Amino acid sequence: MTGQPALVTDRLLLRPFTLADAPEVQRLAGDYEVASHALGIPYPYPDGAAENWIATHRSGFEKGMHVVYAVTCPEEQGPVGAVGLVEVNRRHGRAELSYWVARHCWGRGYATEAARATIEYGFSVLGLHRIYAMHFSRNPASGRVMEKCGMVHEAHLREHDWKWGVFEDVDVWGVLHDEWLERCTVPAIRECRVH
Ligand SMILES: CC(C)(COP(=O)(O)OP(=O)(O)OC[C@H]1O[C@@H](n2cnc3c(N)ncnc32)[C@H](O)[C@@H]1OP(=O)(O)O)[C@@H](O)C(=O)NCCC(=O)NCCS
Repeated sequence: MTGQPALVTDRLLLRPFTLADAPEVQRLAGDYEVASHALGIPYPYPDGAAENWIATHRSGFEKGMHVVYAVTCPEEQGPVGAVGLVEVNRRHGRAELSYWVARHCWGRGYATEAARATIEYGFSVLGLHRIYAMHFSRNPASGRVMEKCGMVHEAHLREHDWKWGVFEDVDVWGVLHDEWLERCTVPAIRECRVH
């Protein structure tokens, strides 16, 4: 079995997380502004949770359940975000795209660049048919990322998720493989580094 490759984009390197990244994950994902917009991120971010999360990545990748990347850029030592395909369902050829970016890096286009590379990986390497993503309706920036990735708005789900004592409205976006081939005219991945 080949390990999870690193993906090189114009400005970013997407690489597997290591346990050494855990303190930065705890600090950056544990930012209230990040955690409050992502369904699965706790606040406050407990000690040990980042280590536990990172420890699931390798076996999940090997079992074909998910692929998770640390988003890194040359200007910063550690990760500045995370992006991944979760809920990979081989039978239905689909997966859910998920991401967050550290607050001090917002607005630089990193989420879009990392998400596009991950979508490209999902279609061209994993052979998926459909990739979808979901965001709280109160988080239009994430919807804009999905739109910039060539996704189509598919649904508005009323009070679909329970987060911190509130039922949240959720928007669903998706892209099919043939749509991606039509829309992705500029390569999203410059290099796929297999170890
Ligand atoms: C959502 C998030 C990933 C965006 O990351 P980012 O690196 O800033 O994203 P990008 O720079 O690639 O694109 C953001 C886009 O949203 C737009 N945007 C920002 N705030 C917005 C708002 N309030 N309403 C509409 N669009 C908004 C930006 O202008 C930009 O679009 P543009 O390029 O057309 O100008 C980041 O804010 C984040 O991690 N938030 C917390 C966690 C989260 O929301 N994760 C996603 C859960 S579904």
